[in-house]
Amino acid sequence: MSGEAHGGGYWRASPPPAARRGEVEVALPGEAPLRLVTSGHTFSPRRLDPGTALLLRTLWQAYPAPGERAPERIADLGAGWGAIGLLLARRFPAARVDLIEVNPAAAAAAAENARRLGLGNARVHQGDVSLLWPALAPHDLVVTNPPIRAGRRVYGPWLAQARDRLGAGGSFWFVARTAQGANTLAALLAAALDDVAVVARGGGYRVVRGRRA
Ligand SMILES: C[S@@+](CC[C@H](N)C(=O)[O-])C[C@H]1O[C@@H](n2cnc3c(N)ncnc32)[C@H](O)[C@@H]1O
Repeated sequence: MSGEAHGGGYWRASPPPAARRGEVEVALPGEAPLRLVTSGHTFSPRRLDPGTALLLRTLWQAYPAPGERAPERIADLGAGWGAIGLLLARRFPAARVDLIEVNPAAAAAAAENARRLGLGNARVHQGDVSLLWPALAPHDLVVTNPPIRAGRRVYGPWLAQARDRLGAGGSFWFVARTAQGANTLAALLAAALDDVAVVARGGGYRVVRGRRA
């Protein structure tokens, strides 16, 4: 997908001003759809990204696993305009959800969405995951559609540090295109966590989950 289709340079901290606003409906099976505002110069501003959709559907089917307790602290790394973190905040109202996003336009849209939806358990933190995450951790559930286009030096540490940032029994889930190195990312995660497995595939994407035993 071209950078233009996603809003060119969306992963940078300073997108051009006067971004065009939009609205996207996010629907999951068995749940009322959510309408979320988006901004131009953000990732996938006109529709829910198909990889993100696969990650959400997989989480809804497989998390929490039987016997696994509901999460108290959730992190969405590179949260964009908030699709993953805000749906999780609605699904787990007793959990605190930290949405971390470097792009100010995307973070502002996520914060506006949280306000409009009355999701007081969602906190949007604008800034770099590598700087902000350590102070917000530990989390029981960490989810990300990582910024592949920003380069491995950006998202590699998120995977490598997963063990340090998860509470005991916590899990880390990511989605990535197979053609953009999902297997390589899975290997990075396997160096940090236990029980790393591909838990869903479809449309050229893979969802990978690892646990901290
Ligand atoms: C592939 S997009 C996913 C966005 C959203 N989670 C979704 O699924 O629609 C990755 C996001 O990571 C953000 N990002 C890139 N580098 C980052 C960093 N160092 N810290 C925080 N967010 C970052 C980008 O701005 C982008 O919004």
